[in-house]
Amino acid sequence: MISLRGKKISGCIACLGCVKDNICKLEDDLTELRPLIAEVDAYVIGAPNYYSTLNAAIHAFLERWYQFRHQEGDTLWGKLRVAVGVGGTSGAFPADDIVKFFLYSLIETVSKVTGQGAASCFSCGFGETCKVGVPALLYGEGVKITEDMIPRVTKQPEVMEAAAAAGKQLGERLRNGHDRKAVTQKMQKTLMQMFSESA
Ligand SMILES: Cc1cc2nc3c(=O)[nH]c(=O)nc-3n(C[C@H](O)[C@H](O)[C@H](O)COP(=O)(O)O)c2cc1C
Repeated sequence: MISLRGKKISGCIACLGCVKDNICKLEDDLTELRPLIAEVDAYVIGAPNYYSTLNAAIHAFLERWYQFRHQEGDTLWGKLRVAVGVGGTSGAFPADDIVKFFLYSLIETVSKVTGQGAASCFSCGFGETCKVGVPALLYGEGVKITEDMIPRVTKQPEVMEAAAAAGKQLGERLRNGHDRKAVTQKMQKTLMQMFSESA
């Protein structure tokens, strides 16, 4: 498992240094992760909801996968992955955004798992008096915070079961003759469909 916490990873700066050889020329903490991204068969990528989208760290990390996309750069095509999103109210936005990022690399999303995490407002020290904090938004003004109202994913059996099922599904797909060429073709069609729907 790789956590981006504490890593210094810039977003893509569109220098086009990667277009000839599919290798990003920016040097930061992504440089040492590149071989791993290239080598593995599948990904489980998770992100927290920040302002109804991905947080900046994972956005920057995924932007840099642009380096794999040029010419016959099929390093990532046809791979599989699970998208995970968590948010103070909902994890759906970051999970959906991850799905889109991966579609551009022709990677199939086998499963999407979303859950409600513990927004920092529950532990910042002002959660009971702050009028715009998540506790007040969820439970109303004058809320008294108790441990049982803090929405941790481990307390949501349906989320934990969905996560276990996603892992199982991913494992089964990988073991049962995973055909990367077929997945690539399917993802190309899905990408084209997304373009035509958003035009
Ligand atoms: C800058 C910032 C913006 C956030 N914006 C949102 C938001 O728009 N929607 C939401 O549901 N949660 C939002 N959150 C809450 C985080 O998504 C939440 O703290 C995180 O999912 C908790 O995950 P954890 O329980 O795994 O630590 C925000 C948190 C921060 C720090």
